[in-house]
Amino acid sequence: MKRTIEWKDDGVYIIDQTALPDELRIIRCEDYERMAVAIERMEIRGAPAIGVAAAMGIALAAKNCSNGPELQEKLKRAYNRLKSTRPTARNLFWALERMRKVWEESPKESSNALKEKVINEALAIAEEDAAVCRDIGKNGAALISDGDGVLTHCNAGALACVEHGTALGVIRTAHEEGKKFVVYACETRPLLQGARLTAFELKQEKIPFKLITDNMAAYVMKKGLVKKVIVGADLITRHGDVVNKIGTYGLAALAKHHNIPFYVAAPLSTIDLNARPDGVPIEERAPSEVTHIRGVRIAPEGTEVINPAFDLTPRQLVSAIITERGVAHPPYDLSLLFRQGNNRINRIVR
Ligand code: MRU
Repeated sequence: MKRTIEWKDDGVYIIDQTALPDELRIIRCEDYERMAVAIERMEIRGAPAIGVAAAMGIALAAKNCSNGPELQEKLKRAYNRLKSTRPTARNLFWALERMRKVWEESPKESSNALKEKVINEALAIAEEDAAVCRDIGKNGAALISDGDGVLTHCNAGALACVEHGTALGVIRTAHEEGKKFVVYACETRPLLQGARLTAFELKQEKIPFKLITDNMAAYVMKKGLVKKVIVGADLITRHGDVVNKIGTYGLAALAKHHNIPFYVAAPLSTIDLNARPDGVPIEERAPSEVTHIRGVRIAPEGTEVINPAFDLTPRQLVSAIITERGVAHPPYDLSLLFRQGNNRINRIVR
């Protein structure tokens, strides 16, 4: 399987990210409920991949439904179920709204024609994600130089998208261009997406990297080993506040202190022009993710914890935002990116 998620033989195949790096296990999702559960269990995760998974969940609902008036009802049920899976990733809601438009704008369509449209829209979202990540990679690779140490957090790689990745897409493209640099991958507690997934991808690609625990970031920055930080995003506000994996804010503050550029790579589908920095729902996950590591308890029984999955990095700490349309610089008004039509721009300097 070349992609994180694929539509094949009337089913959706995903790489089970909970099994990595020990096992490359593939799950076949036959219906939208299984897809919703896969998102909840984080068998598929990462904002762009979640968006594609939700779109394909809707496509499964269409495929499995009998023809007639129940089709629209079933699509709405699937939409509501998938919408409830994870609260923070903007791409999930973006993809679901795009899918909803398909049936809302075709009320008189025959069932077969509507099903075809719904499935085609989900496939288009997946193809676009792959293309967009390549463009993000190209736009961002220019920011990486020979000899750099590039620190990243969580997994914003092929596994978080359809392929290639966003932050890791930039790193991948720079590597493909022949640049010589070292990646510092933060392990990313509690669920270790850095240690399990980013390390897995970098190793596969033979990109030189060193894994560090999250609490080593200040040390490696102070030592001068890190020349750039690059991360992905789950949601970006119009003015450049970035919601991403818990720990990102701390890294941005550290980068500022050490005068290191802090870059964010994300598709336009991650930008929510209407979101207010204090209004973004931050997912709170199970306490066991903190008290246990891969099923092994590491804290006394009954220990109370908090487990926010994301934090918000204020715009003042973000040096640039790399998108498929170009690289935006502060002060940010990301609505400009949406006004460029389909023309790629290389730089937005304000
Ligand atoms: O909880 P996760 O693993 O879904 O969180 C993922 C992240 O925070 C990623 O950095 C973000 O989605 C960007 S992925 C291209």
